[in-house]
This record gives sequence, structure tokens and C-alpha cells, in this order.
Amino acid sequence: LSGYHSVLAVVLKTSNESPWTDEFDKVELSCLIESISTTNPRIEWKKITSEGPSYVYFDKKISGGLEGRAVIREPASLLITNATRLDTAKYRCEVTAAEDMKSFDEIVIDLVVRVKPVVPKCSVPKSVPFGKSAELSCVEDEGFPKSQYQWFKNREEIPDDPKTSVKFFNSSYTLNADTGTLKFISVRKEDAGEYYCRAKNDAGHAECASQKMEVFVCVLMLLLWLASTDDIDIVGIILGVLVVVIVLLCITVGICCAYKQGYFSSDKQASNNYKIPAKGDGVDYVRTEDEVCMSARH
Ligand SMILES: *[C@@H]1O[C@H](CO)[C@@H](O)[C@H](O)[C@H]1NC(C)=O
Ligand SMILES: *[C@@H]1O[C@H](CO)[C@@H](O)[C@H](O)[C@H]1NC(C)=O
Repeated sequence: LSGYHSVLAVVLKTSNESPWTDEFDKVELSCLIESISTTNPRIEWKKITSEGPSYVYFDKKISGGLEGRAVIREPASLLITNATRLDTAKYRCEVTAAEDMKSFDEIVIDLVVRVKPVVPKCSVPKSVPFGKSAELSCVEDEGFPKSQYQWFKNREEIPDDPKTSVKFFNSSYTLNADTGTLKFISVRKEDAGEYYCRAKNDAGHAECASQKMEVFVCVLMLLLWLASTDDIDIVGIILGVLVVVIVLLCITVGICCAYKQGYFSSDKQASNNYKIPAKGDGVDYVRTEDEVCMSARH
């Protein structure tokens, strides 16, 4: 190829094959002519998308979507003055030098326009039962390259793996930085707090407002939890209290039944009158039991 340089040949090179810029910033697509003999070469730029190539510089004019937003910088570089997200594409610089023996060369530049994330949509359950699962989600679709996600609890970043932190060691969550989901397999009291999420990429970051997640404990769950601990004394005490309550309830219901059936009444006829239909007719019996329950409740 070195022979070409001394002979008549057009050879292109670039100072940056894959430039990037932030949206609304400027960027240069470098196309340098390393060797040429033709004095007035034809320079063209094409944008290559999935729909195929289209002209952005042709006949010494900027055209297409770049019109008014780009200029040619000598000899052949393309300077985009206000990049938009739609400019992310491959661009091809083509130089035709009629008087050279090798009269054509081209070079492809891969441009990435980074877009800052917008404020993500976050969903945090307000109230979760102790021991149940919970899912917190965070989504943002504008950012380019695609956003990564971080979650914060009470202003402190939650580590990807709870086992790497003393504070979160016993928490059952898994955190997916690509999808933004924070999943608790079994929520603890300590998981309650103020949560917010941050979407970030190379262009910047954005956060949603923090939201409170509460953890509530049902009595039954409390008992199950106590039963799962080694503290037998507490379980014993609670079982004792339960037995006393049940015994008291039985005594109350018993006294009520006796009273209703007239054991405390001097009128024996009334009790006889009652007993005969009660055994023969189920409806009356049910009604009687209803009354017992009502009085037991009051
Ligand atoms: C760049 O373009 C955007 C709209 O596409 C416009 O709002 C902004 O003012 C432009 N910036 C400059 C510096 O021209
Ligand atoms: C995690 O659980 C273990 C065993 O239940 C306990 O000894 C330890 O103190 C807990 N650590 C934290 C940070 O709560």
C-alpha cells in the first residue's frame, strides 16, 4: 500500500472511529485525507441506518435531518453543532478523487449520542405484612445508553448483595440493576423505611421521590415468629394466657346456657315448655345458640 502513497491515490483516516456526545452538544465526525493528488475531490457523507444509507452531505450542501445543525470542517470532517438522540447511527465519509489512480476511499464513523435519564417511575408498596414478599420497581425509558438502577433506603444506597453489608446482612432482597426491581422474598420489620430509586447512565442521572414502605405484624404471625425463636418462656406464657382465656370463655358460655335454659329459674314449667320444642325443632335450637353467642359477645 505504501506504493500507492507515492503514486496517485486517495487515502482516508480518522482520529476517532466511534465518537460520542451528549444530546444538544456538538461533536466532530473526523474524516482526514492522508494522501491525495486531485485538487478538487468530491466529498460526500451518508448516514447509515436500518433503513439504508441516506445523504447528509451532498453537492457541497448539508441535507436531510442534519440541515442547519452541521457544517463541513476542512478537509472533509462533519461537525454536528447540536446533536439529537436521532443522530445515533453509522456515518460514511466518501471521497472521490478523479485525478488519482486509486480514485475512491471511504471511512465509517460510529456515532453515539448519549441521552440523560428522565425521572424514573417508581412503585413502592405502602404496607407489607411481615414475612410476605414485596416488589419495588423503577423504570425509565429515555436514557441512552439504557439506564442502570440504584435503590436507596433512608438515603443510604442498598448494596447489590445484602451479604456484603452489616446493615442489610439479614435482609432477603435481590436487586437487579438492569431492570430496576428490588424484590424481598420475606419482609422483616427492619426493611420498613423510606425508599427511592436512581436511574443513571454515562450522560447523567435522575431520581424519583422517596416513598414510605411500612411492615405490619399480624397477631398470628407474631405467634409463629415467637414459636420459631428459641425463647420457650414467651411461647409458654402466651399458651398459658390462651388457655386461661378459653377457660373463662367456656365458663361464661356455660353460665349463659344454664341461665337461658332456666336452671336459675323457680318456674319449672317454663323450662319444660322450652325443652320439648328445642329437641323436636332444629330452627328453634339454632336461634337459641345465636342468642348465647350474642350474650357471650356482649
Ligand atoms: C438544540 O436543539 C434543541 C431542539 O432540538 C433546542 O431546544 C436547543 O435550543 C438547541 N440548542 C442550541 C444550542 O442550538
Ligand atoms: C442477623 O441474624 C443473626 C441470626 O439471627 C443475628 O445473630 C445477627 O445479629 C443479625 N444481624 C443483624 C445485622 O441484624
